[in-house]
Amino acid sequence: MNLKSSENDMRERSSFGSKFGAIAAATGSAIGLGNIWRFPYVAGENGGAAFMLVYLFFVIVIGIPMMLSEFSIGRYTNRNTFGAFRVLRPGSKWYLIGILGIVTAFVILSFYSVVAGWTIDFLKESLVNGFAGRSSAEIKTGFDSFVESGWRPVFWTLLFVAATAFIVVSGIEKGIERYNKILMPLLFLILIGLGINSATMEGFREGMSFLFKPDFGKITGSVVIEALGQAFFSLSLGMGTMITYGSYIRSRENMLTTAGSVAVSDTLIAILAGVAIFPAVFSFGISPTSGPDLVFITLPNIFQQMPGGYVLSILFFLLLFIAAVTSSVSLMEVVTAFCTEELKMKRRTAVLAISLVLAGTSTLCTLSQMPDSPLKIAGTNLFDFFDNVSATYMMPVGAFFIAIFTGWFFGKNRLRGEFTSGELYGTGLFPFFLFLVRFIAPVVIAVIFLSKAGWLKL
Ligand code: PFF
Repeated sequence: MNLKSSENDMRERSSFGSKFGAIAAATGSAIGLGNIWRFPYVAGENGGAAFMLVYLFFVIVIGIPMMLSEFSIGRYTNRNTFGAFRVLRPGSKWYLIGILGIVTAFVILSFYSVVAGWTIDFLKESLVNGFAGRSSAEIKTGFDSFVESGWRPVFWTLLFVAATAFIVVSGIEKGIERYNKILMPLLFLILIGLGINSATMEGFREGMSFLFKPDFGKITGSVVIEALGQAFFSLSLGMGTMITYGSYIRSRENMLTTAGSVAVSDTLIAILAGVAIFPAVFSFGISPTSGPDLVFITLPNIFQQMPGGYVLSILFFLLLFIAAVTSSVSLMEVVTAFCTEELKMKRRTAVLAISLVLAGTSTLCTLSQMPDSPLKIAGTNLFDFFDNVSATYMMPVGAFFIAIFTGWFFGKNRLRGEFTSGELYGTGLFPFFLFLVRFIAPVVIAVIFLSKAGWLKL
């Protein structure tokens, strides 16, 4: 059966209006809190440069091929992540990958909305110049007491959920694409400015060597798995987001350059965030291993000290909020596309239902950070648990099966047709890509995973 011509053409389906629109939306999904909030703190906890090296390796060898795999499945089937597997392998259990993706989207959205809520609070603080004149210790205590206060951050979390829902309701081209096109380039410029400013700090050298001078002795099993998880998280892979977005890419468009530009800009933003943050970490005597609050403690210190810091800080938190929204929108779109296409819900109803559930789960995540909160799983509060379990377990597992599916079950000719956009681009690269997807990606993910679980000794 040729799905492409027989079924898809009959269905009305939105798509991105232009190539730049598709790139902007996929980049918008990839670039987010994962680059500016998560990357620095995970790198900080895992030895800095050693982590970064492994991370870069994974982005190139596994991240880009996985993104192309997801785009291919999405564009070929023109469907949401669940539907894509069902039409490609009817009657099989492959649709479970789609379900895993939908659950992962909820898990990520639940804690992501909390951090995004913090950025709104920081935007408000910046506007009222609330960080001025505070010492780094005071900034840290202020942040901790805000996060631990429980209900105060809930308000921001819910506001963020509402903002995400608003964009998703507006649809693909008028909502998702339009906002991404303007906002992503602006974020890039601000980060470059902050990076340049870093060079003037006393901790610049120390920060740079922490980030770029690898100590190979520090590459342990857990550094490797954290790096893999971060690569998937940052590139939005392993859960069908890029399948869903791939389904909105037009059929003749070169998706090799789309995937390439998404990966390059995503990596650049993460490195720039590192360059902006680590010199300040060392200048202000903050520990690089402070965990999820690293960026929120470091940045107000930077802004306070630099000329024009007031304006920059407002702009920065505004953009961080926007970067977060463009990512959360892609997460919500995974679930929305499922609800509208498979459950035949109206877009509005779907978004409303999803937002209500999300309001509940993200509120629980926010409250789990109160010091005596009983909201814990395996001794970890819900927020940290969701953050950790999604990137370290759910996304690699999803990516493993997506790689196996693409390499072995999708059909070589179909895959080739999508990869080359109908023999138009990258025909010579296809065998290499196929090899990476069939062998390298699944084997590397499986080995890392089994060794983490203690079933394999490396
Ligand atoms: N890639 C986003 C970030 O780095 O912030 C987070 C994310 C978005 C993860 C979408 C997964 C996803 F499907």
